[in-house]
Amino acid sequence: MNITWYGHSTFGIEVDGVKLVVDPFLKPNNPVAPVTAAQLDADFILVTHGHGDHVADLVALAKRTGALVICNFEISNWLGAHGVEKTAGLNTGGSGVFPFGRVKLTIAHHSSSLPDGTYAGNPYGFLINFNDGHDVYIAGDTALTYDMKLIGDVGGVDLAILPIGDFYTMGPNDALIAAQWVKAKHVIPCHYNTFPPIEVDASAFAKQLMREAGIDCTILGVGESVSL
Ligand code: NI
Ligand code: MN
Repeated sequence: MNITWYGHSTFGIEVDGVKLVVDPFLKPNNPVAPVTAAQLDADFILVTHGHGDHVADLVALAKRTGALVICNFEISNWLGAHGVEKTAGLNTGGSGVFPFGRVKLTIAHHSSSLPDGTYAGNPYGFLINFNDGHDVYIAGDTALTYDMKLIGDVGGVDLAILPIGDFYTMGPNDALIAAQWVKAKHVIPCHYNTFPPIEVDASAFAKQLMREAGIDCTILGVGESVSL
């Protein structure tokens, strides 16, 4: 499994030749992204909620690539109205089986509306049981919530992708707790250093996570990849 960070909450995950893109927010909409939507390939696109910093390049990327968009019911309807027909509109607590594995929508505490004001339902995260054996939790934009303990209770995850930027989501102190509650073996932080309100010292977070919880953390630079 190869994971690439494109800045903010945008990731590429490639596993067994299948390409997933999470929360496409790319150049020039995303001030730190190294690539545009035209430069990315995707077989599946996963979207955690309707905010512009997660969907700015969603319609363009979905249309050009023909990728199936995995999201909630409301965002799937909105995509249909914008000419994107290949969608899977789940809802929180539900899961679906896709060629790369099982995807469940998890509880997130945040807000959600689409850039044109359309109601986007509740925000959510993803728990993905990949066919290659990796279990990955993508928290999405969320506060620390006790519901995260449920993920740890059912066995934990190999990788947790957690927001640490504070202001709009959890900050580093709460993400440290979240990583332990979901029993993550490995953490990759996101949703920081994109805009001034979410500037965070990610390497201090990584050191604290190892020192206090013994959890490995990879700080990716934008455009950088890690293999798990
Ligand atoms: Ni948001
Ligand atoms: Mn956001």
